[in-house]
Amino acid sequence: MAKYEIHGGTPLSGTVTISGAKNAAVAILPAALLVKGTCRIENVPDISDVRILLDILEGVGAKVSRPEPGVVEIDSSGPINTSPDEHLVKQMRASYYLMGALLGRFGKAHVALPGGCNFASRPIDQHIKGFEMLGADVIYTDAYVDLKPSEFGLQGNRINLDVVSVGATINIMIAASLIPGQTIIGNAAKEPHIVDLANFLNTMGARIYGAGTDTVKIRGVNALKGGTYAIIPDQIEAGTYLAAVAATGGNVLVQNVIPKHMECITTKLQEMGARIINYDDSIRIQSNGHLRYTTVKTRPYPGFPTDMQAQICVCMSRAAGFSRLTESVYETRFFGYCTELQSMGANIQINGKTATVIGVEKLYGATVEAHDLRAGAALVIAGLVAEGTTIVENVHFIERGYENLVDKFTGLGASIRRLED
Ligand code: EPU
Repeated sequence: MAKYEIHGGTPLSGTVTISGAKNAAVAILPAALLVKGTCRIENVPDISDVRILLDILEGVGAKVSRPEPGVVEIDSSGPINTSPDEHLVKQMRASYYLMGALLGRFGKAHVALPGGCNFASRPIDQHIKGFEMLGADVIYTDAYVDLKPSEFGLQGNRINLDVVSVGATINIMIAASLIPGQTIIGNAAKEPHIVDLANFLNTMGARIYGAGTDTVKIRGVNALKGGTYAIIPDQIEAGTYLAAVAATGGNVLVQNVIPKHMECITTKLQEMGARIINYDDSIRIQSNGHLRYTTVKTRPYPGFPTDMQAQICVCMSRAAGFSRLTESVYETRFFGYCTELQSMGANIQINGKTATVIGVEKLYGATVEAHDLRAGAALVIAGLVAEGTTIVENVHFIERGYENLVDKFTGLGASIRRLED
């Protein structure tokens, strides 16, 4: 298994360019199955989750090509198999979007239950409820989901989500794009990648209104045509580099970002003492590494993202005073990395949904293990801050979602290298 070796203690400086958003890409690529024609998708991150998804799409019969770096072309006009490869589907979370795409376009799907980062129980009952409300007969076992039209056929409907779910909002939007009638999703998630998916589908001819609010309306159309679309920059990748600079100190221009998407993160880093300067599509961060305590509660967008919980925890572990970090989306997410941070000298006390983080003078290099994507990114930041050498093991989790992380940090002056076992 590959690992990273990090020699900490160097402030970061220079410019880093953010890649296309992982969680937008993993929705938009399967949604291309809705389109009878060729979708040219730009700003696609080269990460392992995307590579698996492209293998799945090719496996079901789509023609997939990568004409240049960051660009993927998908042609789903030929015959498509509605039972994607089970082994590949189980390797990632977002493969569940194949259910919505295949149901919407072909009226049926047989898809294994997804895998992916396993930091909490991650039910899909709201996806299933959405498909049923759209008129599907659903067989949902502990191994797969099977979808076909009920005797009344597929038809748009009003669907109120019981929890704000990114995945369920996206899956229903994808399926409903080609299902006759109007679908209204109430209590919808508002994340930037939901707006990005709607913009992609509308570019291909869908009629989706209100994405980015808690009510999304979809008027089903008969068919989608091909077109070109560029994915938005990754909010969480950008937030990870901003948190790294805040914690290590330094002066970095983070470019190819949408500053509005970053406000929930940058306002916290400012409160902690970092200086943030927003430009049109970049953000400069300056930090002397001496941070102040703060309070963070994760929430769906526009709140502070759960996917930045672990990275901000590293900042807190070096910040003067008692910080409080409350997780309200995935209660068990602390367990993916807090023990590892404690082994590096962090003082973190977990009580249910809340961690109290008491800032320490120094973190110390150690051998630590990434247990999921964001936990792994946080351990990299901790290694960059720590005195001495840190080995982060199991970096395949990190490489699911961060393009060229080692090169990007090296470009900022960090001492980090990838080692193969
Ligand atoms: N939930 C249910 N039932 C459902 C769906 C969700 O109870 O049917 C609950 C979950 O247990 C959780 C909450 O609703 O407590 C929110 O889950 P959501 O469905 O929004 O999460 P997701 O769609 O599975 C996406 C991202 C995650 C990110 C969450 C929250 C993708 C592929 N994944 O997951 O990203 O943490 O939204 O923002 O978009 C990551 O990038 O590292 C990552 C884990």
